[in-house]
Amino acid sequence: MAFTRPRGTRDFLPEEMARRRYVEGVMREVFESFGYGEVQTPTFESLELITAKSGEDIRRHLYHFKDKAERDLALRPELTAPVMRLYINELKRSPKPVKVYYIGNCFRYEEPQSGRYREFWQAGVELIGPPHEEAEAEVVALAMATLERLGLEGFEVHIGHIGVLRRILEDGGVREEDQNPVMNAIDKGEEAALKGLLEKLQVPEESRSVLLTILELEGPSREVLGKARALLAGRTGVLEELERFERVLCALGFFGVEGYRVDLGIARGLDYYTGTVFEIYAPRLGAQKQICGGGSYSLTETLGGAPVPTCGFAFGFDRVLLALEAEGRKLGGDKGPKALVVPAGKDLLGEAIRVAASLRKSLPCEVDLMKRKLVKALGYADSRGIPLVVIIGEEELAKGCVLVRDMKTGAQRDVKVEDLGSIKVHE
Ligand code: HAM
Repeated sequence: MAFTRPRGTRDFLPEEMARRRYVEGVMREVFESFGYGEVQTPTFESLELITAKSGEDIRRHLYHFKDKAERDLALRPELTAPVMRLYINELKRSPKPVKVYYIGNCFRYEEPQSGRYREFWQAGVELIGPPHEEAEAEVVALAMATLERLGLEGFEVHIGHIGVLRRILEDGGVREEDQNPVMNAIDKGEEAALKGLLEKLQVPEESRSVLLTILELEGPSREVLGKARALLAGRTGVLEELERFERVLCALGFFGVEGYRVDLGIARGLDYYTGTVFEIYAPRLGAQKQICGGGSYSLTETLGGAPVPTCGFAFGFDRVLLALEAEGRKLGGDKGPKALVVPAGKDLLGEAIRVAASLRKSLPCEVDLMKRKLVKALGYADSRGIPLVVIIGEEELAKGCVLVRDMKTGAQRDVKVEDLGSIKVHE
């Protein structure tokens, strides 16, 4: 019986892994250049941690199970809650700000399609401590800087403010726990469900119409903010939230960030967001175009810690890769072996292994362990795109040499074994 992979999971072959590791490397470099340090948390956590303020959508798609001691556990669907737990357990007394990043797999039992998997990877950061608008601006700037360093061109940044939406609901008499399903309906673009909920929660007609109009505001910042200010005239609490948002947008200027759209219809699918929220889209990816999501949130108190300002984002790592590939970006150099060491004779494999061990100090190389005939070995090198073949023959060895063949030109020359360290590959 042949086994297949579980639905929504993938195998990654060496070439794809090389591309993934390259993208990972660039992300790490950019995150670290902003002062973030890497953390790693367990793949599974307690169900309670994962479901605290996670949102209906996440809960519905959880992989959860009981272990042998009947503990309720879940595979992590995202990393913000685990990282907040780690912060409370290990880092809460560290000097602020605490800046951490992660690259790890996540699990959501969703309907698989292109760009949507049941096991996928997130690469993200969390910034803990600074209460100022510049912190929220920094995470947006960092996400954009990362995509720019990767060379992605076709991406759109949409920034909104969930505090504005929550405050309109609060003014309309909706408590925080009742706001979350409303946010969920907004996030999913479910208009009928949203209207139904507002009706059920008995939100006054005026607040309802302000909310529905605000959600439609999208465009360049000056334009959207002007319309929002006019619409919210007299609503002091909401205007305070809007002013806070304006200060974040102003701080974005310090980071040289421009070209984003202000989109007050962003609600995000998780319950913990409180202030600035943003999403980055790669329109080429179609339905699963959201390659990044983040914002400021409040989770530490829910998890038993002290309140502290927090913000961050996560890239959908697989989607970033898809977006780069869709633009034809070259992702890293060729990582394969640069030489194949071939014993030209049955008893020479040991010698070939010894030569390869010393060659490997300067050049990645492989020994032909199949003991095939020379022509076949050359064919193998050709099919794998290995540029050099080092032939170990009795005659050459007697002179302390090996024969080096350039696969591109077919030229062959004797090279002293002790000089092998200086051979170069001409690409
Ligand atoms: P999220 O928007 O749920 O936010 O996920 C972040 C990104 O993960 C999405 O923008 C998307 O690119 C990717 N993603 C989500 N589900 C899948 C899937 N099934 N297959 C492939 N990619 C997927 C969060 O998880 C927050 N923790 C982000 C955050 C960090 N907010 C503050 N800090």
